[in-house]
Amino acid sequence: MLSIIGAGRVGSALAFLTAQSGLDDIVLYNRTKNKALGETLDVVNTIPETSLISVMGTDDISSIKNSDVVVITVSGGAIKEDRNELLPFNVPIVSDICKNLRRYADNAKIIIVTNPVDIITHQVLKQTEFPREHVIGIGSGLDSSRFRYLLSKELGTKQGNIEGWVMGEHGPTMVPLFSNAKFNGKKINLQEKKYEEISYLLRNYWKDLVLFKGASVFGAAKNTFDIVQAIIRKKDLQTMASINLSGEYGLSSISIGVPVIIGMDGVKQVVKLDLDPKETEFLKTSAKRISDGLEILSSLIK
Ligand code: LAC
Repeated sequence: MLSIIGAGRVGSALAFLTAQSGLDDIVLYNRTKNKALGETLDVVNTIPETSLISVMGTDDISSIKNSDVVVITVSGGAIKEDRNELLPFNVPIVSDICKNLRRYADNAKIIIVTNPVDIITHQVLKQTEFPREHVIGIGSGLDSSRFRYLLSKELGTKQGNIEGWVMGEHGPTMVPLFSNAKFNGKKINLQEKKYEEISYLLRNYWKDLVLFKGASVFGAAKNTFDIVQAIIRKKDLQTMASINLSGEYGLSSISIGVPVIIGMDGVKQVVKLDLDPKETEFLKTSAKRISDGLEILSSLIK
């Protein structure tokens, strides 16, 4: 069973993707009962005709009991310039959720969408004390899909011809891995000025979404759905996700976006990619910014 905490735009889009695929039973929780009920009444109309899954909308958090996967999509406040602005709003909400995860779903894999996702992922890990393999933040997978889109536009080709990954913080210090990027299997070489141009567009992509449509929705929901599907279908998926490192890439005790293999038990392994010296330095800078954010987190956790 999949429980989605938060029936806002991302949570309801994820419920739609899951229901229309017939993947699994869904509990769609929202503090406002009518919001949960309204989204459920809509989403149940997308369940495939022969599927036996069900969807339940509720404001009773105990309904997440015995979930296989719980996705946290709640968010208070709005981002103006930096996702870290959301910390004072989201940390208290997530603290309450962590108490309920321990109480009702202590064997579930937890997927975090709530921003700033690397810091919130770390908060969930610390406050639930679940295994690190079960606490997964989305963000770098979404950034990687945006990186592939931007490269495909630059090269005048379809996204499917491009391989591209982004590591690090899901934030202004994210690290596009140009050294690993490929077009039809071949290394991509761009004019020097294009690297900075594409990096700027990537890091500020979310601002255009907020400007033109008010929020980021489908990309975040799809990146999350891919991970949920890999866990529930027990089919390994290589993607990018934020998990707590124990020495990989020379980093420890922070949750940061890295390449991982995800399967039935959550994160199976961290994948080692070769980075060029610049990317290695950028990753360190990104880790430092997350560490600074963890200082703010510890001041907010009562
Ligand atoms: C974005 C939000 C999900 O990058 O952080 O669109």
